[in-house]
Amino acid sequence: MEAARVAGELIRRFIGRPEQTLTKSSPHDLVTEVDKACQDVIFDFLSQMYPDSSFLGEETVAPGADAATLAAQEADRRFLWVVDPIDGTLNFIRGLPACAVSIGLVVAGEAVVGVIYDPMRDEMFTGVQGQGAMLNEAPLRVSDVDDLSTALLASGFPTGAYRGKNAEQIRRFGQHARNVRAFGSAALHLAYVAAGRLDGFWENDLNAWDLLAGAVLIKAAGGEITDVKGAPYTLETRHVAATNGRIHRQLLLDLDMD
Ligand code: IPD
Ligand code: CA
Ligand code: CA
Repeated sequence: MEAARVAGELIRRFIGRPEQTLTKSSPHDLVTEVDKACQDVIFDFLSQMYPDSSFLGEETVAPGADAATLAAQEADRRFLWVVDPIDGTLNFIRGLPACAVSIGLVVAGEAVVGVIYDPMRDEMFTGVQGQGAMLNEAPLRVSDVDDLSTALLASGFPTGAYRGKNAEQIRRFGQHARNVRAFGSAALHLAYVAAGRLDGFWENDLNAWDLLAGAVLIKAAGGEITDVKGAPYTLETRHVAATNGRIHRQLLLDLDMD
């Protein structure tokens, strides 16, 4: 939480006015000097607190490297911190207040702690495996909506090859569900499912740093997270479905129409 707050300070200070914006894997995939600075402060903070740590951060993956494989290789170290320093970089660049710091902790290959911090609303979402989830001081629980037709879902527009497929699914769920949101931050979508603000979220082609902290939160708040075929969530999951549990099968059935 402390590491996320330090990075959150930088986000608050520079939102809407980063100096340098670069494209990464595609014209949709952006990074700024603030993303890198946030990752550095988080890594510095955690490595001082926990010298036994290794790190997987979005901004340290070499271009073209398979992040899921890297995550799996790292997972047998003592503490593995999986970090997205700014999830919602495009929002951050454009001054839209929907971005978050996402920090997950893996111990012995298992995701055990998740922190998602929204610095613009000062909302700290935390989850500990087996111990529940919190939003600031208050316990969190998923919603009890039990039918897709009354569910509020969220998804996104992934930066790579799955953008078209995801857009087609958004069109479909726009008809089958109550409505669909796309706030531009997968981490916030997951935190909002955990908080019962949304009933479900799915997106194709995400990475461990987008998902890991949120996966802990979802489970700790009583929800369900799998891949889009229904297999249990792991560090290597890229195509994800996360819900309050009650609408999970319906969501998967609809995703299976592809
Ligand atoms: C992105 C956001 C967005 C999602 C993209 C992600 P980034 O992460 O989570 O909501 O649709 O697929 O890449 O680049 O802002 O960290
Ligand atoms: Ca991200
Ligand atoms: Ca990011």
